[in-house]
Amino acid sequence: MTTDFIIIGAGITGIRAALELAAHGEVFLLTKSRTEESNTEYAQGGIAVAMGPGDEIDLHVQDTLDAGDGLCQESTVRILVEEGPARIRELIEWGAAFDRQTGELAFSREAAHSRHRIIHAGGDSTGREIQKALIQAVRDLPSVHLLSHSFAQGLLVRDGVCGGVQYLDEPSGEVRQLEARAVLLATGGLGVLYPTTTNPSIATGDGCALALHAGASLADMEFVQFHPTVLSLDGAPPFLLSEALRGEGACLRNAQGDRFMSRYHPQEDLATRDVVSRSILTECRNSGSPTVFLDATLLDSTTLEQRFPNVFETCLKFGLDIRRELIPVYPAAHYMMGGVLADREGRTTLPGLFAAGETASNGVHGANRLASNSLLEGLVFGARVGQAMTKGGPPFTPDRSRPLNTYPWPRVEGDRPGHDLRPRIQRMADERVGVIRCGESLKLTLQELGQIPFLENGLRQEQETNNLLTNLHLMAGMALLREESRGAHFRSDHPTRDDQRWRRRLTARCDGEQDQVIYETIPVDGIL
Ligand code: SIN
Repeated sequence: MTTDFIIIGAGITGIRAALELAAHGEVFLLTKSRTEESNTEYAQGGIAVAMGPGDEIDLHVQDTLDAGDGLCQESTVRILVEEGPARIRELIEWGAAFDRQTGELAFSREAAHSRHRIIHAGGDSTGREIQKALIQAVRDLPSVHLLSHSFAQGLLVRDGVCGGVQYLDEPSGEVRQLEARAVLLATGGLGVLYPTTTNPSIATGDGCALALHAGASLADMEFVQFHPTVLSLDGAPPFLLSEALRGEGACLRNAQGDRFMSRYHPQEDLATRDVVSRSILTECRNSGSPTVFLDATLLDSTTLEQRFPNVFETCLKFGLDIRRELIPVYPAAHYMMGGVLADREGRTTLPGLFAAGETASNGVHGANRLASNSLLEGLVFGARVGQAMTKGGPPFTPDRSRPLNTYPWPRVEGDRPGHDLRPRIQRMADERVGVIRCGESLKLTLQELGQIPFLENGLRQEQETNNLLTNLHLMAGMALLREESRGAHFRSDHPTRDDQRWRRRLTARCDGEQDQVIYETIPVDGIL
């Protein structure tokens, strides 16, 4: 079958792009689960946007750059922040009902923001409200076809141009090919690589794996953000406890009941997520306790129940009354700063292939994403990539790239072990490519990955496992090469930031034969 545009992934980015493309041709929007299931659906805190009283574009830009720890491309950050307000107004017109106070948008605060800047909906159900409005808007468009339960197995590349996708139609079990003028990867992140994550079970890094094997470059894969406050209670899922709780006055306490963040950072409980996550690990190691605690009893009961109804009710369901009790928390994998190397229009290094949102790495988040910038990213870059796909044009080539290293790509013959490999992969990721890494354990990871065979044309679950392996390989490879600590990447054997050597972004691509991975670096302003 042939169409005009293909979008893989139906979260905020994919749908926003579809809305842009709908007037220019026929759009197929593929998602491997039901249409409503995506990371967007689970977003609690909200959307950061410089629209509140006393806020300014420059302040939001500066906070984003500070969180990114020297690795954001400033011109891209400026696009995010400057185009944000228009995208939010448009979303409100499409029916998204954000919370208001005396008729005006209500702004709350999250970590590392210098102003109250986060708009939210249903208290702490922001993602659900946005997804509802976007899906409604897209369902009204006759040129957009939503294909749920359609799992992308590979990109179709002919003569060096991406022109479609091969996918598994899960209900019928049929493998189908769909060709198009342009293909967008908007598959979200890869939290499932870790044993505990805030992401849904579909977040298996499919977009990055598809892109790499089709010949596109990836970037910044060593930077994974862990959310510091995820419910850690026997029998309960790793449920996100929004940073907005700390923004409203909740605090962290260790096993002795003491507040500890002032010992780690002047911004205390509102330091960036990488700082808070590492501090929690240190406190747990020192005390021998498996968790620290989030103290929300400092907030008054009405605020808790009305502003955080989802958090309040979920905790209550698991026997925890957060008006009176401390909440056991531990960091969990939350967001991937790296992804498919893309420019500000979502063009990748492979003609015909585009990427945006969490799947892409366009320099907007640097080494660490500022809280609540991701939904804004989905709206702003979803709209931009939609516009770019209608125009076509050449791919982009990063400016001033320098070769760095190559590693062999594992080519192991033979059968996979009969049991599911995921727990083993997740353990490797957690223990060796987690909040804290070191050269030795990263080398071990690459060695172990080199022993695990990839499966050809398996079922969806096996292919997702392949995708997790591909992602982990690149994450470990990049984390090993980056001999410094910066943002979300902390090397215990290189604990300081080294701007002279490492104020550059790392990229990776496969050689033509897919025998090796070629690592290069580009300057932080290397995307023109
Ligand atoms: C949160 O509500 O803490 C998560 C928001 C985000 O990741 O930006």
